[in-house]
Amino acid sequence: MRLDHLTITDYRNIAAAELTPDPGLTVLCGANGQGKTNLLESIWMLTGGKSFRGSKDAELIRRGEAFSVLDARFEGRGREQTLRLTVGGRDTRRPGRSGRLNGTDYARAGAMAGAFTAVVFEPNHLSLVKGGPEGRRRFLDTALCQLYPGYLAALRRYARIITQKNALLKSYEITPGAAQLLEAFQTELVKYGAQIMIYRRGYLGNLAPAAAKNYEEISSGAERLELRYLPAASVEDPHPADALAEKLAAMEQAELRAGYCLVGPHREDVEILINDQPARVFGSQGQQRSAVLAMKLAEAAMAGELLEEEPVMLLDDVLSELDDDRQTYLLTRIGKNQTFVTTCDTAAFARTNGKIVIVEGGRVRE
Ligand SMILES: Nc1ncnc2c1ncn2[C@@H]1O[C@H](COP(=O)(O)OP(=O)(O)OP(=O)(O)O)[C@@H](O)[C@H]1O
Ligand SMILES: [Mg+2]
Repeated sequence: MRLDHLTITDYRNIAAAELTPDPGLTVLCGANGQGKTNLLESIWMLTGGKSFRGSKDAELIRRGEAFSVLDARFEGRGREQTLRLTVGGRDTRRPGRSGRLNGTDYARAGAMAGAFTAVVFEPNHLSLVKGGPEGRRRFLDTALCQLYPGYLAALRRYARIITQKNALLKSYEITPGAAQLLEAFQTELVKYGAQIMIYRRGYLGNLAPAAAKNYEEISSGAERLELRYLPAASVEDPHPADALAEKLAAMEQAELRAGYCLVGPHREDVEILINDQPARVFGSQGQQRSAVLAMKLAEAAMAGELLEEEPVMLLDDVLSELDDDRQTYLLTRIGKNQTFVTTCDTAAFARTNGKIVIVEGGRVRE
């Protein structure tokens, strides 16, 4: 995947800009509040019309204007493609996000997802290491949903049964036929839960070594990253479903007392260790940032392998808190992916072999 050209009109603080990125690395330089993240976000919008900051339409359109328009030319699936994304204000004739992909109109920009693929790192992703297990499960779920439609189906079924089982556990004593109902839920939970666990085990089996290798490179071999799946029940078992069924049976009394579900993939976690110590507790800021980055780069590599096309890497504010060596690694790394990095360091040009783009007051200068 390669973005060849982007024309931006009235997107956030960018009134009009043209960007011709490097096929390898492009470094977006500028002081705080100039529009670097906005520019990066506009590229991310091409993946399906969603902002990685979860912003509303009115926030994306330049203040005082009616429409935002992004016009992109990119190389994907071995051919030149064109994509136009429009965000219309509430009072316009076409409000919301729509688009045009290779000449075909789409009333919903979301329907164009998959044509242009990218992976983004932004500072909020640090919660992957710093935050609770939900963030790490979401990371796995998002990646797996994009790769396997079957995973999304299993996840939805599973979530629905968990809701139903929670309701039952809460009112068990007063529900007629509660025991049979619970048994039916357990059977379903085992079926879909085991599917989820097998997908997660498979994904982490590939992601963990790739992330470890990235981390080793980022830290110039000084530190070691390890990702460890903490499954709800043994996944080493030849039949994870049996192991999960056993665990559910063993916990049934405790669940009845608690009044909600205590075991299953919805409570799983991934342990992140740096030099054998939990990164969440013992990792320094720079180490935590490096760990998230290593995971994100691994995520991109895995998506690239499966989709047979390397996604574009968008790295926002990744350089802060990293020491010189780690910054240099990122500013000179030309991996397989086309990469965009933002930085406030105006002297970055001296340290990168990528193309420098200056962002100042919403203007983009190449
Ligand atoms: N819809 C909008 N219309 C006009 N300006 C906007 C809009 N949305 C955001 N901005 C402006 O964009 C600027 C922020 O841009 P951005 O977040 O890209 O900065 P940045 O260069 O990434 O800065 P930092 O280095 O601090 O991360 C803010 O000054 C904000 O007021
Ligand atoms: Mg920014």
